[in-house]
Amino acid sequence: MLDSLEITVLVEDHVPMHGPFLAQHGLSLLLKGVKDGVETRGLLDVGQSHEILTHNMKGLGVAPESIDFLALSHCHYDHTGGVAAFVCSTGKSDFPVIAHPDLFRPHFTVDPSLAHIGVGSADALKKIEEAGGRVILSAAPVPLAEGMASTGEVPRATDFEGPGKRFFTVRDGKTAQDSLPDDMAVTARVRGHGVVVAAGCCHSGIVNILKHVRALYPDEPVEGIVGGLHLVNASEEKMEKTASGIREFAPRWIGAGHCTGFPMQAKLLRDYGMAFTPLAVGATFRVGG
Ligand SMILES: [Fe+2]
Ligand SMILES: [Fe+2]
Repeated sequence: MLDSLEITVLVEDHVPMHGPFLAQHGLSLLLKGVKDGVETRGLLDVGQSHEILTHNMKGLGVAPESIDFLALSHCHYDHTGGVAAFVCSTGKSDFPVIAHPDLFRPHFTVDPSLAHIGVGSADALKKIEEAGGRVILSAAPVPLAEGMASTGEVPRATDFEGPGKRFFTVRDGKTAQDSLPDDMAVTARVRGHGVVVAAGCCHSGIVNILKHVRALYPDEPVEGIVGGLHLVNASEEKMEKTASGIREFAPRWIGAGHCTGFPMQAKLLRDYGMAFTPLAVGATFRVGG
């Protein structure tokens, strides 16, 4: 368990009115966990381009060399763009990069036209390794630091969540629907508070993620949720079911943005009031300490 946790948004679709930051469709979160006076720093995702990540990290005074690990929530280009460049910028060898075993598969959409939207060729496994990364691929939870871990693959339990039918991959030489099996989140457990869930896009569904986190840590309340909920074009029914599913876990606060969509953000604002924060670069969440 951590003594304290701080999560800062490094890359997001929005920027605040003041500050030197740049916005970009994508997400990157910095997690700083402190245990017995020792701080561990990790990133969840790197956004879409290394230039934006570097610019915003500089503006926030975060040195790449200070980062201890990188977890990747899923394959999408707006979360994995520039992984190899980021690993290189840490100046480290054997820099841990944690992801699901299916991360590097071909991943396409045909909406609005055929495009590969998975991990780009500049960030292929070999390129990350050449940059100094030690890629750890696991469908099971991986410990990242004291009190921090990846969730691993998220079981699909609800009947209203999931990525739908718009993504494709190639399996055994044939085109097949892609359900984003690689979608996962990171948990950070803080003593006296509970578990904070940091997610990328929640293509597996935030309620499925919360159910999985509860199964992993049955005795711990959900302290907070940070990330994208991917409800940008969701029906009112899906948003309402998601909101009520989240309420069952009674998180104390929620920071949601990126692909969450304004209507869902408005719903969360109605539900949580000042305990809801729309994400933007520089937004910071502190627990404990
Ligand atoms: Fe995304
Ligand atoms: Fe995504």
